Amino acid sequence: MSLPFNVASHLDHALRETATKLGLADRGFQPDVRVADPANGDFQANGALAFAKREKQNPRAVAQQIVDELAGLQADFTFELAGPGFINFRIKPAALLAWLQAYGSEQQLQSGAAGAKSGQTWVVDYSSPNTAKQMHVGHLRSAVIGEAICRLLTFSGAKVIRDNHLGDWGTQFGKLIYGYKRWADQNALATDAIEELERIYKLGHGATPDGSPELDEARRELVKLQNGDAENVALWQKFSDVSLAAFQQIYDRLGIKFDHNLGESFYNNQVDRIYRELADTKISEVSEGAQVVFHPEHPRYKTQPFIMRKADGASNYASTDLATALYRVEHFNADGIVVVTDFRQADHFEQLFLTVQKWFAAKQYRLPELHHVTFGAVTGEDGKALKTRDGGVIKLKALLDEAEERAFALVSEKNPDSPESERREIARVVGVSSVQYADLSQNRSSNYVFSWEKMLSLEGNTAPYLLYAVTRVRSIFRKAGLDPAHPPVGDASAPETAQEINLARKLVKFPDAVQLATNTLRPHFLGLYLYELAGDYSTFYAADKVIVDDPAVRARRLLLCHRTLVTLETGLHLLGLRTLERM
Ligand code: ARG
Repeated sequence: MSLPFNVASHLDHALRETATKLGLADRGFQPDVRVADPANGDFQANGALAFAKREKQNPRAVAQQIVDELAGLQADFTFELAGPGFINFRIKPAALLAWLQAYGSEQQLQSGAAGAKSGQTWVVDYSSPNTAKQMHVGHLRSAVIGEAICRLLTFSGAKVIRDNHLGDWGTQFGKLIYGYKRWADQNALATDAIEELERIYKLGHGATPDGSPELDEARRELVKLQNGDAENVALWQKFSDVSLAAFQQIYDRLGIKFDHNLGESFYNNQVDRIYRELADTKISEVSEGAQVVFHPEHPRYKTQPFIMRKADGASNYASTDLATALYRVEHFNADGIVVVTDFRQADHFEQLFLTVQKWFAAKQYRLPELHHVTFGAVTGEDGKALKTRDGGVIKLKALLDEAEERAFALVSEKNPDSPESERREIARVVGVSSVQYADLSQNRSSNYVFSWEKMLSLEGNTAPYLLYAVTRVRSIFRKAGLDPAHPPVGDASAPETAQEINLARKLVKFPDAVQLATNTLRPHFLGLYLYELAGDYSTFYAADKVIVDDPAVRARRLLLCHRTLVTLETGLHLLGLRTLERM
């Protein structure tokens, strides 16, 4: 019998059972199993410490009491009591082998992981740009982080609904229509619609200064749109369509496919119910003519209002977001909602979630888990906002083009003799992956410095390094004339050398990295794991020759190579990256 996929939760269960038997569970004992410092073992249970402290007992005695009852774990682990009352567990080589034999493909890894969130539905709201505008570098993070989160949740067994909450409603459309009716250039629209819409909007904005009759005219266009005027609605629809088509080109390059594009406009006719329910439940009040929500229990929001309907009666970002939360529960049956935006929207979402909690409780609607996933800014190496040479914003399309060009130069330098089409294809993957991974390898809460040199480097925690690690493992199979889809590893014996054991121990911890990244909604934890795995693989490969004559040794080393390959590829795909056969 092999260990289950997630060895840490297996230990957790075993310790809970033991604690129940000993009567410790009733008194609140929690095993607290974590990945250990490799010098101490594979996993460490720290629970005796907190328990003993609370119960005024000797922690070593508590831990010893548990250790004495763990005979059932002896088949798979060696363990010992350590320090002030930790229990350290080390997986035995035979158990490592059995685990590696059991989880040999992306699919097997996935079915191992799928228990965590199976039966749950998660709505992930990400990318969500405003229409009629180009996507620029600031839009990169939400798209890349959001997609990785979708894949992590799917891997854990959740049904994931990808929802692009477009900013497609608001006063700017009055000015845009005003400008469109005067200055639209149909030829320009046919070649690059978004570029042209941006130009028209700028003209419209410039021609309608505050207090001018032109602004009144733009407002009339907006009111006509809001009242369903056929011409203006058709224009607005056109703006949305061309914007989405342009966004889709970026999404294709990033491997993103949305299930829905339910933008702000979609919720605009659903806000009356929101106004009514929040007023009826007395969660909202009227302040200076606006409908607002205060949160008296909160230090800031007891005085800072959440304005959910403006004094002139118009809806706003808050009204549509309240309607969005309700829709996601009523129509998608969401168990969890994740919204990915930059940190500057933190107050909005905090107020939104507090309001939703009170409102859903009052109406007895089912409350899903609500997560605002924030991220920091992307800056240049000077720490300032990233700009083009002439000070403009960097368009996402241009950024991805440049990444591919730079990758092409590198690939050509390394393989001058391979055909251009092949070098182009490799460069497409390396270029885009580098940009994605530069973002994903960082803790999303930090600002990150955009550096071409760093992200394209073959050294360090970068996409080229990881993609190259994948191709290096693949080349072992290629050179030996073996198909990595059917590795001859059935006869493998348990890992033996220090490097083999070290690599096997790392492979078995893939579930922990996935779980940590999923539960915290922080993909960089998985990135870091993959980087460390690639390092352990290099150490192993440098020390232990794989293609040797002894069939048992050869099979067990091929097993390690193969599982490294599968784990690296699975992990990179989970982050939204594509992988390569050669580089
Ligand atoms: N359109 C917004 C922006 O560009 C992001 C929307 C995020 N989602 C939401 N439900 N508010 O900043």
